[in-house]
Amino acid sequence: EQQTSPNVVWEGLAIPREEREAKNGHKAAVMWFTGLSGAGKSTVAKALEERLFDRGIQTMHLDGDNVRHGLSGDLGFSANDREENVRRVGEVSRLFFEQGTFTLCTFVSPYREDRTRVRELLPEGRFLEVHVDCALEVCKERDPKGLYEKAEKGEISNFTGVSAPYEEPEDPEIVVRTDEHDVETCVDQIVDALEARGLIP
Ligand code: PPS
Ligand code: ADP
Repeated sequence: EQQTSPNVVWEGLAIPREEREAKNGHKAAVMWFTGLSGAGKSTVAKALEERLFDRGIQTMHLDGDNVRHGLSGDLGFSANDREENVRRVGEVSRLFFEQGTFTLCTFVSPYREDRTRVRELLPEGRFLEVHVDCALEVCKERDPKGLYEKAEKGEISNFTGVSAPYEEPEDPEIVVRTDEHDVETCVDQIVDALEARGLIP
């Protein structure tokens, strides 16, 4: 059930999304990268964004660490706070979507239900769940920010994969295995999927 403030009427945009898409030469979409900390969400999305930028695609990247420096700076990592974080980003993504933008969202987003709620904000075929799949053991070895080490010592609570759950996507549009393929191979795979779906030329 979507929440709406009292006494507000949706303000239609001056330029319909379809017109923006026609002018941009690509469709608008939201790509939702989910996976463990250290799985490679940010790395893959950044490499993908460069690729899309070079092809003239209008992109926006919303990343967990950055969003939590501002928009979601008031939230922690309880299940409720993660739900609210994902909800906010989902709503922001919807606004960018209506703007004609190709939005890349990189969030651990460990709860299936939270991701499904974002999916439901967007038209069929325009929300792509990307499972950035990497064995927990490999993420722990990578530990790019030293967070697993801290979590295992009990210095961080509710840490995904250590002391909080990660619910894998059941039917994601795209799965990239970063523990089996290098970054460029994962990006190639995603670009192929976007072309096959007719989202980019
Ligand atoms: S969520 O679950 O979607 O709301 O999380 P997200 O906004 O993506 O933020 C995850 C990043 O915050 C750091 N961090 C933690 N992650 C998981 N669990 C706990 N408890 C935690 N505390 C801090 C961590 O760097 C995550 O970033 P990534 O890029 O995934 O490593
Ligand atoms: P996340 O955003 O999911 O927390 P990061 O992108 O911050 O993950 O970190 C992933 C780490 O794994 C980086 O240090 C990156 O260089 C490394 N890595 C190794 N192989 C890959 C791959 N195939 N895809 C993405 N990252 C990889």
